[in-house]
Amino acid sequence: MGSVSLKIGDGTARFHRSTLCSSVVRLLMLFSVLVTNLFALYAFTSSPRPHSTTTTTTTTTSTSSLADHVSSILRDIESSERTLYQISRDVSGYPSLDPTSPSLPPELRSFLSRQPLPLGKDSRSGITELASSVSHSCLSPSPDPLRQFMSYRPRAPCPSADHPHLPLKLLSLSCDPLPRRRCLSRSSPPPPHTTANPTKTSDSKNDFSVDDVLSLSPPGAVRIGFDVDAPNADFAAAMAVHNVTVVTSSGGWIHRDGLLTLNISPRRRFPFYDNVFDLVRMVKGLDGRDAMEFFMFDIDRVMRPGGLLWLDTYYCVDGETKTTVTRLVDKFGYKKLKWVVGEKAGLGKGRVYLSAVLRKPVRG
Ligand SMILES: *[C@@H]1O[C@H](CO)[C@@H](O)[C@H](O)[C@H]1NC(C)=O
Repeated sequence: MGSVSLKIGDGTARFHRSTLCSSVVRLLMLFSVLVTNLFALYAFTSSPRPHSTTTTTTTTTSTSSLADHVSSILRDIESSERTLYQISRDVSGYPSLDPTSPSLPPELRSFLSRQPLPLGKDSRSGITELASSVSHSCLSPSPDPLRQFMSYRPRAPCPSADHPHLPLKLLSLSCDPLPRRRCLSRSSPPPPHTTANPTKTSDSKNDFSVDDVLSLSPPGAVRIGFDVDAPNADFAAAMAVHNVTVVTSSGGWIHRDGLLTLNISPRRRFPFYDNVFDLVRMVKGLDGRDAMEFFMFDIDRVMRPGGLLWLDTYYCVDGETKTTVTRLVDKFGYKKLKWVVGEKAGLGKGRVYLSAVLRKPVRG
C-alpha cells in the first residue's frame, strides 16, 4: 500500500516534500530520456554494417537484431513510464491501492485482478482485459473498514457481525461502488416499516400533493421518476398508485416490497443514462457549493427535456443556502411552474423551506 497521508505536518513540510518529490520526478524523467536516447544511438550504430559481399542471410540477421533492439527500447520506455506513473501518484498524495499487494485480503485481490478477454482483443473497444474497480474513498481516512468488509470465507455465509452497518458505513464514507463479494447473504429482519401516506394532505402551502404535481404534465406523460437520496420509500409508494414507477436512491436501508430502492451514495454519478426520468424529486441537497453544483448537473443530466424537477419542501439551513440553491436552479433555465418559500407548518419557526416544481427546457 503506497498510502500517503493527506495531513503532512505544517505547510512548510508539505512544501519541502513536494519540492523534493518534483525534483525526483524531473531527475527521473531526464534519466529516462537520456537512457532512451542512448539506447537508440546504440541500436543504430551497433547494427552490423552491410558487407560488400552481403548475402540474404546476413541481411535477415541484421534486420532481426535491429527489431530486437527496437523492442528492447520499447520495453524500457514502457517500464520507465510505469515507474513515473507510480511516482506521480505518490507525489499527488492520493492514497493508492496496489491490487497485487499480499497485505490485501485474498478476496479483494481476486476481485480486483484483471481478467483477460477469452477471445483476445475486442475489436471495437480495443481492450484486452476486464478490470473491476473500487472507489478511492474506500481507502481514506483508513482502508480498514474495506479490509474488514472483504475479509470473509468465500462461498460460505457472509459474516453477520457487521451487517448491515458496515456496508452503510462504507457508503456514507463515499466508498461507492463497493467491491462485490462471493459469500451468501443472510436473511435480514424486515426493515422498520414507515407508514405510507400515499395521499399526502397538509394545510401547509409548501406541501404540494402528488396530484397537483402530476396535473402539470399531460395525462400519462410521467411514467418513470427518481426520488433522490430519499429518507424513505413513501413517495415511490404514493406514485405507484398513479402507475408511475419511481426509483428511490438512498444511502440508508429503506427497502419496501415491490419498490425499487438503490443503495448508493448521493456523491457518486447516478448510474443512469442521460434523459431518462420524467420526474425527479429531491428533499435535500448536498453540503458544499461545489458538491451541490456537481449534484445538480447530474440530476439535470438524468432528466428528460420537458421533465419535472420537484424540490419537495427542500430544507435550507439558512438564507444563504436558499440563495445558493435559487441561483443554481436559475442557471439551468428551468421554467418555474410552482415556487413557494416559507416555513413549514409544525416544524418550528426559523426553518426555511423551498418548494418548487420546475420544467427542464429542451436545449439545442
Ligand atoms: C393504473 O393502471 C391500472 C391498470 O392498467 C388502471 O386500471 C388504473 O386505472 C391506473 N391508475 C391510474 C391512476 O391511472
